[in-house]
Amino acid sequence: MLITTIDQMHRWSAQQRRDGKQIGVVPTMGYLHNGHCSLIKCASNECDVVVTTIFVNPLQFGVGEDFERYPRDLQRDYTIASDAGTTVVFAPRTDEMYPSNYATFVDVGPIGEKFEGTFRPGHFRGVVTVVAKLFHITQPHLAYFGQKDYQQTLVIAQLIRDLNFDISMVVLPTVREHDGLAMSSRNVYLSPEQRHHATALYRALQAATNAINSGERRSHALAELMTKVIADNDHVRVDYAAAVQAGTLEEVTEFSSGEQAALLVAGRIGPIRLIDNELVTIP
Ligand code: PAF
Repeated sequence: MLITTIDQMHRWSAQQRRDGKQIGVVPTMGYLHNGHCSLIKCASNECDVVVTTIFVNPLQFGVGEDFERYPRDLQRDYTIASDAGTTVVFAPRTDEMYPSNYATFVDVGPIGEKFEGTFRPGHFRGVVTVVAKLFHITQPHLAYFGQKDYQQTLVIAQLIRDLNFDISMVVLPTVREHDGLAMSSRNVYLSPEQRHHATALYRALQAATNAINSGERRSHALAELMTKVIADNDHVRVDYAAAVQAGTLEEVTEFSSGEQAALLVAGRIGPIRLIDNELVTIP
């Protein structure tokens, strides 16, 4: 079923709750790929009904970013989402979500200011605002997100804690192409040649993971290694490459055994910006 208005979505979710149904939500910006499908499939295994939201949120795009040309195809998404186990696709119009008198925004603290927050000022304010709205509109018990946007998962976990949403968050592993490239709706922008260069990000993560498994504990050495692997490819510009504490994104000088490190990379191929990450438990 397709729902496009907030009023209808509210009424549908309220009825499901009255019927004792467990609602899972998978928030997306559409142009669904196998990464989204893995979230929808997991939600449909764990919940009675699944709402997949499809909304290209203007609030999380900065000036000069790709809001206008972000890929959109609701019919295609509707079929993919339904086939993967979605009960309802919620696809509101922009003026339904942000009428002209819209004025309320949710700010997240320091966790949203580093890494992506530095390169995309205001991005997480837009993400958190729309996710808070989608939670209120769809009334889920569980919400599913991909680890591909690791910092985003931390920011949303903070939102759920701070604003006391009675929602359990489920984060599922990044789904990758055969050569390691993390699946992303933005991959459609890549030409075959750029697509090949884009694997530099994954290779950087692998190199750092191997270094950790061979005994490297110094975060700056891991960051330098990842930067070098990416920068060795002339076609990719590094925005950042960092090894930080998972969960907090705090810097550490050296990791200790048993600690979880978050390896974070972001780079640009021409105008196309890609991010990736890996979580590694220090042996
Ligand atoms: O990850 C995304 O696709 C978006 O940031 C989200 C969570 C759907 C909010 O617009």
